[in-house]
Amino acid sequence: MKKSVFATAAVASLVASNMAFAEPQAEVLHWWTSGGEAKSVAVLQKEFSDNGGTWTDMPVAGGGGDAAMTALRARVLSGNAPTAVQLKGPAIQEWYEEGVLADISAVAEAEGWDNVLPASIAGHMKCEGSWCAAPVNVHRVDWIWANADVLEANGIAMPSTWAEFNAAADKLQAAGIIPLAHGGQAWQDATVFEAVALGIGGPEFFQKAFVDLDMDTLKSDTMVQVFDQMRTLRGYVDGNFAGRDWNLATAMVMNGEAAFQIMGDWAKGEFLAAGKAPGEDFLCSSTPGNGYLYVVDSFAMFDVDGDDKKAGQNLLAELIMGPNFQEVFNLNKGSIPARTDVGLDAFESCAHTSASDMSASSSEGSLLPSYAHGMALRGAQAGAITDVVTAHFNSDMSSADAVEMLANSVANSL
Ligand code: BGC
Repeated sequence: MKKSVFATAAVASLVASNMAFAEPQAEVLHWWTSGGEAKSVAVLQKEFSDNGGTWTDMPVAGGGGDAAMTALRARVLSGNAPTAVQLKGPAIQEWYEEGVLADISAVAEAEGWDNVLPASIAGHMKCEGSWCAAPVNVHRVDWIWANADVLEANGIAMPSTWAEFNAAADKLQAAGIIPLAHGGQAWQDATVFEAVALGIGGPEFFQKAFVDLDMDTLKSDTMVQVFDQMRTLRGYVDGNFAGRDWNLATAMVMNGEAAFQIMGDWAKGEFLAAGKAPGEDFLCSSTPGNGYLYVVDSFAMFDVDGDDKKAGQNLLAELIMGPNFQEVFNLNKGSIPARTDVGLDAFESCAHTSASDMSASSSEGSLLPSYAHGMALRGAQAGAITDVVTAHFNSDMSSADAVEMLANSVANSL
């Protein structure tokens, strides 16, 4: 069923009073360019045009969005901001403070977003009480993906401790299989690092280190152990890992060239887009340890001129939070809906695990924002940590030196 542009009376009167007859336009900046990602963003594109909108696509390839954020800065600095931008976490607040975001509270209030979003997610979408972004999903970062046949053929079960992971990887390496598919890009190193840190240090350690930036925790012996495990993992990646895109690493697991990948559940979007089934072709389990690292993808609207663009922003905001979009998009994307009232009946087993672990970790206080994916820290501090993680992973730096560099790098970024 097509949804009308002006689905609610409140939105209708709001939009109609300012912008009668405007045809919704949107130039949308995003970094969803892999197979599963492109299939997901196409759902929004289609709903937008089904509702009379004209979508101008501005994809900027590059996992994790670093290149997209560079492109965004250039556009805003030249006074030509895109209409809508894939943006998340504290970066939303940073752009708000620059005075360049549009207020989408009228749509959010008319559609009752506060009633259908967990308070923690709604909090990320608000800037000084007004709504400045619309959430599409919840991704989990701390996952291990595995090729089911490769594990079975080698008599290996999904590891539930890092020691088990290392033992499995040693066995696979001896059998001539690449244990860990990895792409040597800074954000991928950071993704693995934060999963290892959560597993080895636990949720409280993670909170203190990567949310509170507590110096004693950053300099602790536990952090030394985290870097030790990173050094061990470095030994399990193949010689061609430098610069490899994350989805190519996922493909190595799919085709049996490698056994495992440590990556957020956008990797599941790749397996599913390739027709692979969980439990049969690929296996998922959370990385060893307790807790849950979340990423909420969202879109912020930039303050642009023109009734057509403003109508486009209102329409996009409304569609993004629509129950149908939240289901279909997330089935493709590998994530789960941000809305609490969208059922998971159509979703596969890894999504169910994600949802139940999320609710358990929320009650236990171990639901934590991903630092590697821009949910926990502002850009300067997250960058200061990632620089060290990457420098360590790509050299023979000792764990003790990495920890010292980490504390200094964070202190200098404050
Ligand atoms: C985003 C995902 C995206 C992934 C890889 C993450 O930061 O949250 O939506 O699929 O990067 O590009």
